[in-house]
Amino acid sequence: MSVAPDDIEAAKASVAIEDYYHEGRLFPPSETFKAQAILTDRSLYEAAASDWEGFWAEQAEQLDWFERWRSVCDWDQPFAKWFVGGKLNVSYNCLDRHVLAGNGGRVAYYWEGEPGDRRVITYSELLDEVEHFASALRSLGVSKGDRVAIYLPMIPEIVVSMLACARIGAPHSVVFGGFSPDALRDRINDAAAKVLVTSDGGWRRGAATPLFENAASILAETPSIEHVVVVRRTGEDVSGLMRAGRDHFWHDLVAGANPHCPPEPMDAEDLLYLLYTSGTTAKPKGIMHTTGGYLTQVAFSHRYVFDLRPESDVFWCAADCGWVTGHSYIVYGPLANGCTGVMYEGTPDFPAKDRWWEIVERYRVTTLYTAPTAIRTFIKWGTEYPAAHDLTSLRLLGSVGEPINPEAWVWYWENIGGGRCPVVDTWWQTETGAILIAPLPGVTTLKPGSATFPLPGIEAEVVDDAGRQVERGGGYLTLTRPWPAMLRGIYGDLERYRETYWTRFPGRYFAGDGAKVDDDGYLWFVGRVDDVMNISGHRISTTEVESALVDHPSVAESAVVGAKDETTGQGIVAFVTLKAGIKASAEHARELRDHVARRIGPIARPKALIFTEELPKTRSGKIMRRLLRDVAEGRDLGDTTTLADAGVVEEIRRRAQTSPTED
Ligand code: PRX
Repeated sequence: MSVAPDDIEAAKASVAIEDYYHEGRLFPPSETFKAQAILTDRSLYEAAASDWEGFWAEQAEQLDWFERWRSVCDWDQPFAKWFVGGKLNVSYNCLDRHVLAGNGGRVAYYWEGEPGDRRVITYSELLDEVEHFASALRSLGVSKGDRVAIYLPMIPEIVVSMLACARIGAPHSVVFGGFSPDALRDRINDAAAKVLVTSDGGWRRGAATPLFENAASILAETPSIEHVVVVRRTGEDVSGLMRAGRDHFWHDLVAGANPHCPPEPMDAEDLLYLLYTSGTTAKPKGIMHTTGGYLTQVAFSHRYVFDLRPESDVFWCAADCGWVTGHSYIVYGPLANGCTGVMYEGTPDFPAKDRWWEIVERYRVTTLYTAPTAIRTFIKWGTEYPAAHDLTSLRLLGSVGEPINPEAWVWYWENIGGGRCPVVDTWWQTETGAILIAPLPGVTTLKPGSATFPLPGIEAEVVDDAGRQVERGGGYLTLTRPWPAMLRGIYGDLERYRETYWTRFPGRYFAGDGAKVDDDGYLWFVGRVDDVMNISGHRISTTEVESALVDHPSVAESAVVGAKDETTGQGIVAFVTLKAGIKASAEHARELRDHVARRIGPIARPKALIFTEELPKTRSGKIMRRLLRDVAEGRDLGDTTTLADAGVVEEIRRRAQTSPTED
């Protein structure tokens, strides 16, 4: 990853921030929790430390393999292969083996649609649907290795599609339903997907979002797509947009499909899926995840971080399958472990602000996994919403996606967990595939705001600018050994993989995160140190938003920064210079925000947009983002001597103070 000196300065400043509030209390596992926990001692840490490969082999043995591997890990830095020579099938592990073991009647998902419609889906039923759809995909000419794009809302068919792909060895590429048609087109084209699975729409706050219509608007520009499958969800009439021979309704296809579709034996290193994520450039990266190591580690981490009891737990990961959290902890980890999950289509405030708590109460949810941004929103809404429901079924809470501030942690612990449920803060990334740094709830004493320690089998170190380990204090998080679910590369660009993650600190994987080690050796994450923003736990690159802005005919130049936001962690602030003769106005600012939302998706809409005559640049012409971040966050600007024209800053600051912010 190329980190400019400007960013390193900013990182150092942010890591050194002492106003990062340390809640002094310690939360050791309670006796009540320990009495029922699956692990209460350090045996897993010890096993991994004494025989690292043996430890991971033991985790892999929890899965069913058609053929055993020859070696556990081949490491040719930065390229890893895990369970080399082993053969298995992910959908077989997630479905067939539970049914064969007599657990077919267990609920796989309690699904709750936004309008209040519900489905209870058992493992046998899910297997049946997956076999039908896998056969349907085969009948459309999809074979092992072909990529399938999935653009669906949170309905059961998204899980069915993913598993059907896994069953026949066709890597899937799920594109979040909130992404724009342009974003969908770019992802389809990068992967050269053969089939697209989408729906007439999805529900969001009572309105139907037009997914097929979005897709239809770009299908002329996706030459690799041979077929489109359309799920009926909202009942919108899309038949006028459908093209005969290319587009098919899901229900028509599965009605005539062969109910039996044997799982394809896959090599442990065969591609399971691609998932696009934002990096420091405008072009999203297709992160590659493979079969054996990925499934081993998501199942392992799901079991131990969430202290899983598959026969009695009801696990709700309240993410969307469009993100890695959904892939690993709604679909693959929970299903590999044969547990019961909850899936919800809509937002937390529809039809009312207690929707989540109503769901927890209805399904007797035992484990809730969500993001700090959701927790901070609930704090804002007030305790009356959770207090109106019986949440006593909960026994464990999780957090993911961004640093959780200690106040939010404690609020979650008290008001949702009733003071009984450990809160596990889990650090990981799209690239890591699975949780790497988190407590083990029956073992670790928790500190609110800290993700605590690397899991057994994971080796991480915080280093300084020169790549020397920092025993105590701030620096950059790096991983010093491969791990089974690690990305295998960036689709179509292996060199970019090496360059992005392995060159900043030779011999180490650099995650892009600043972290701090406290006096007890606990890890505290303090945010990204590169040009990646974290908005409500979603990664968005500053460059991606900038290129969307300059793509508007009125924009000459733009610079985008992530500024602290109380609810969403960071908010997008855009500084824009217009072309000569174009007038800045509030309406024009709105138009530009909308333009970004159309180009990328509503999550990328800037919260504030500030017009400026010029952007602050160094004498060598580099935009000084650090300074813009300071302006956006209202900080004292300090030394501006490297600026080409210091007057520019004063002007920007004045304008920033008077520009409206969108809620
Ligand atoms: O900056 C870190 C932050 O989210 C980034 C990864 O984003 P993404 O690939 O979209 O995956 C999000 C869900 C796994 C990381 O580089 N992040 C994730 N979890 C945490 C976190 N920051 C602090 N604490 C966490 N628990």
